[in-house]
Amino acid sequence: EKQGFRHFMLKEIYEQPGVVRACLEAYLSSGWQSEAGTSPINLGLPSELFSEVQQIQIVACGTSWHAALVGKYLLEQLAGIPTNVHYASEFRYAPPPLTPNTLTIGISQSGETADTLAALTMEQQRRADKEPRWQARLLGITNRPESSLAQLVPHIIDTHGGIEIGVAATKSFVAQLMAFYCLTLDFAAHRQSLSTTEIEKMLGGLQQLPAQMELILESQERYIEELAHSYVDTTDFIFVGRGISFPIALEGALKLKEISYIHAEGYPSGELKHGPIALLDAKVPVVSIAIPGKVYEKALSNAQEAKARDSELIGVTQLNDEEAAEIFDKILPVPPVDELLSPILTVIPLQLLAYHIAARRGLDVDQPRNLAKSVTVE
Ligand code: M6R
Repeated sequence: EKQGFRHFMLKEIYEQPGVVRACLEAYLSSGWQSEAGTSPINLGLPSELFSEVQQIQIVACGTSWHAALVGKYLLEQLAGIPTNVHYASEFRYAPPPLTPNTLTIGISQSGETADTLAALTMEQQRRADKEPRWQARLLGITNRPESSLAQLVPHIIDTHGGIEIGVAATKSFVAQLMAFYCLTLDFAAHRQSLSTTEIEKMLGGLQQLPAQMELILESQERYIEELAHSYVDTTDFIFVGRGISFPIALEGALKLKEISYIHAEGYPSGELKHGPIALLDAKVPVVSIAIPGKVYEKALSNAQEAKARDSELIGVTQLNDEEAAEIFDKILPVPPVDELLSPILTVIPLQLLAYHIAARRGLDVDQPRNLAKSVTVE
């Protein structure tokens, strides 16, 4: 039931801190001794996987594909494993050439998405008669441990998101991100690509997330609801972010378009000037995610390019960031957080923005037109 919330989507947005707690509870081993080569994570994966895998390919659709892009960033930057992300619908008909010792991850909230299942089946079949190191190594990440995906692969990570009713994926996305943080830490610990101090720092940061998420929900929802009213008649939005924030820009745009039917596109901030900037004027707001870190200054200067075209600039930035306050017209702040963990926080204001614009437009937020919760046909 909706427990007093107007829509399931809003209830599910509010359930996200609890989902992160559940994931930490499920995946973190108690009593890790900070010893090099041992892992603080328990996903139940066989230890040879950590030594054998030389590359990873991930197949997914929609929001799960966005989670996979965050996963790629983490697996490459923290665990040092080359990782490619494919739309399952493309992969199944044009797979990349075979590479040995390759882990193929299928990620699907429902575990029933036809293209994702077909891509994994195809991968299994094309490697079936090969030597051991060329054989398929499959892993599923799903919110439904009883799903078809779970039956198809030898190992799954159960994302512990709980049942999600709103068609727009919210808490299941956050749960998928948690699975990737933990998978990456597991690889990084086994392969010692991060030091124990670095791992401890990440674990500490992960544990702070639920309280930080609660703070965003408590302090921001009213403001975002009000802000949303001014965009009821807006016809186009652009979302931008760099590095690990780029997939969050894509996710923010997808949330908005699927439930509010407003045209929205997500881009890496640096791509604005290679085309989309031609769309910008005072009628097209630009939402930019700019969290202090590796690409922060670059993200701010890209945002300024949009401002010069009269676009209204909405920034998802760190709380009390004075530099950002001078650039952005509106600010959706998140508590101070390591850039690497920021996606779990920065996605929340974007979910709320999409939700409140759609609700204000009087739309059927939980059951948007033309969409189904799981896409079981090709
Ligand atoms: O169940 P899946 O994660 O495989 O679903 C994939 C997409 O259909 C799904 O993520 C879709 O994009 C979301 N419902 C959008 O919010």
